[in-house]
Amino acid sequence: MANWVFDLNLPKYVAMATIGTDIQKAANELKRGNLVGIPTETVYGLAGNVFDTEAVTRIFEVKNRPSFDPLIVHLSSAEHLGRIVTEIPETAKILAAHFWPGPLTLVLPRKDVVPDLVTSGLPTVAVRVPDHPVTRELLDCLPFPLACPSANPFGYVSPTTASHVSDQLGSLIDYILDGGPCRVGIESTILGFEDKLPVIYRPGGISIEEIEKVVGRTLVKSSFSKPLAPGMFKSHYAPAKSLMIGNINELITRYGTKQSGILSFKDHFDQVADEYQIRLSPEGNLAQAAQNLFASLRKLDAMDIRYIFTELVPDYGLGVAINNRLRRAASKLIET
Ligand code: TXA
Ligand code: MG
Repeated sequence: MANWVFDLNLPKYVAMATIGTDIQKAANELKRGNLVGIPTETVYGLAGNVFDTEAVTRIFEVKNRPSFDPLIVHLSSAEHLGRIVTEIPETAKILAAHFWPGPLTLVLPRKDVVPDLVTSGLPTVAVRVPDHPVTRELLDCLPFPLACPSANPFGYVSPTTASHVSDQLGSLIDYILDGGPCRVGIESTILGFEDKLPVIYRPGGISIEEIEKVVGRTLVKSSFSKPLAPGMFKSHYAPAKSLMIGNINELITRYGTKQSGILSFKDHFDQVADEYQIRLSPEGNLAQAAQNLFASLRKLDAMDIRYIFTELVPDYGLGVAINNRLRRAASKLIET
C-alpha cells in the first residue's frame, strides 16, 4: 500500500512510493509497464521494460532527462547479449567474461528491437549485467531486460540508498526495491569501441588499470567538453550548494568558515565544527571514499551552509572516477 502525504509543490495529494523488499511485487509492477527504483552495486536505478516505449518515455519524464541522453540496458546475463546487439567484438567478450556481473557498461552495435528512444537514435546500445543479488533475482524472473538510468533527477547526485530515491522521485514512481546501501557507490565504467580499440567514455566502478590488465591499452575520452556520449556532460552529479574544489586549507583562508562545510578525502580540519565536515575515508581508502561520495554530498547539501569545500583524491584506481564526479559537480575548480 502506498502512503499518502501532502506535497506542497503539487496541487493535490500524491502517493509516495512504497519502499520494500518484495521482488515479486517489483516484477509485477515492471510487467504492468510501471517504473521501479532498483538497487545495483553501483547506484540505485530507475527501471522500466526496455521494449515498452511508454515505460521508457516515463523514465525520461520522471528524471526530467533530455531525450538525447541514452539509457543503459540491464541484462540478467551475458548470454542474452545476442538479443539486443548485432556484433560482439572479441575484446568485448573477454571484458564481459571478466567483469560481468559488475560495474562495466559496454557500448555495442544495437539490434532494431531496441527502441530508438532507449539509445537516443544512436546505432549503439549501452549494456551491462549488474551485480546485486536482489536485482539479479529480479532480472531472472522477468522476460525482458530493463532500461535503467540512475534514479535521480537529471543533473543531480546519484542515489546510493532506497531513501535517496524516495526523497526525490518517491512521488513519481510506485515502488522502490530496497537492497541496502550500494557497495561500489559510483556508477559503472562505460567502454565502447572505435576502430576496434577500447575507448573509455566514463570512468567508474571498475578502474582503468583493471581493464587495461585484461585488454591492454585503452583510450580515455571522458574529459571531452563536447559530449560524444552524453554521459560526458560537464555539469552533472551536482549538489545545489556551491561546491569548490582545491586545497581545503587555502579555501578556508580565502572564503572563511562561515556557512561552509567540508568534504575531505581523509583529513580533519580543526577550523570547522565537526558537524559540518565529512571525511570520505579516514584511512585513505579509495573504495570506501567512492562508497561514501554521493551520500556525503547529499548530507552536506541538506545542511544550512552555502559552500562545500572539497579536494581531489589521488588520481589512480577508483580515484579517477571520484575526481571525474567531483569535477563535474563543482561550481569552482581551483587546481592545486
Ligand atoms: O552504474 C550505472 O551505470 C548506473 C546503474 C543504475 O546501472 N546507471 C547509470 O545510468 O549511471 P545513467 O543513465 O545515469 O548514465 C548512463 C550513461 C549516460 O550518461 C549515457 O550518455 C551513456 O550512459 N550512454 C548510454 N548509451 C550510450 C551509447 N550508446 N553510447 C555512449 N554512451 C551511452
Ligand atoms: Mg546518471
